Amino acid sequence: MVHPSNLPRPDAAARRVGALRRAAVRAAQAPSVLNTQPWQLRIHRGALHVHADHRRQLAALDPQRRVLTASVGCAVFAARASLAADGYGVVVRRFPDPFAADLLAVLEPDASATVDASALSDGDWLGDVRTAVTAEGVRLHVLDELERGLVSELNGQADRIENLDPTYRAELDAWTPNGDRDRVVGADECLALLVTDGDEATDWLRAGEAMMRARQVAAAAGHDVRPSTQVIEVASARARLRRALGLSGHPQMLLRVGRGSSTSATNRRRLVDVLVEES
Ligand SMILES: Cc1cc2nc3c(=O)[nH]c(=O)nc-3n(C[C@H](O)[C@H](O)[C@H](O)COP(=O)(O)O)c2cc1C
Repeated sequence: MVHPSNLPRPDAAARRVGALRRAAVRAAQAPSVLNTQPWQLRIHRGALHVHADHRRQLAALDPQRRVLTASVGCAVFAARASLAADGYGVVVRRFPDPFAADLLAVLEPDASATVDASALSDGDWLGDVRTAVTAEGVRLHVLDELERGLVSELNGQADRIENLDPTYRAELDAWTPNGDRDRVVGADECLALLVTDGDEATDWLRAGEAMMRARQVAAAAGHDVRPSTQVIEVASARARLRRALGLSGHPQMLLRVGRGSSTSATNRRRLVDVLVEES
């Protein structure tokens, strides 16, 4: 029998390609609005290129591509986390090419860079989530009782406004199994908003990354973070939310935090439809 230490070692380039492939698989599993999975992935010259797939944009729900971009941010973080788990530091270039508007991020594994990890404290999981979100350049605004009531009212208002639009209803029918977008089951232990200083595409992308990082940290403490964007999608509800809460920044996503609530499993696109590998 050959002792494992005598087996040929995969060289650095092969290890890197293996790590990039695993990162692409994880990115393709990321959550997205209505499970649209609006991304295309490309492994090219030792890096993972994450593109937005604008053909999967929800024109009525998301005319600005705010939520599409946040969804791609989720895929970017999933890839980052995978590379970190493989021991790589990652250099992320966001919107690297002004002439390729659909190229949202390029991830280059760098064995010499430090691995980006969130340190966990003992017990203060919400504090850990806040620290993790801040590390992504985003802020966490935890809602108090009064604010929760307001958000619930504004959510209802946003839902009514969106449902007045037949194109929106057609999108729900096309992208969800039963025309119902709300997959949330179980009580919310805590509600929080992700807030960014700016309101540009790069902020939307970072909000998606921050959601995933928050989710990773909360999961380590047994909490489940579920994103929701309905109240953000409707401009009037978003503006009221911002005013009523006195937010200095821009709300990008509502996080509903629960414990052990389950939703049915959702499918993902086949990897061959999402990933292109070039030498
Ligand atoms: C940017 C974004 C916005 C989302 N908005 C909502 C929402 O408003 N309501 C909801 O129930 N789920 C929302 N989700 C969750 C998706 O519906 C869910 O991730 C997708 O259907 C896949 O399901 P899974 O994450 O359970 O695999 C959102 C997810 C993302 C990434």
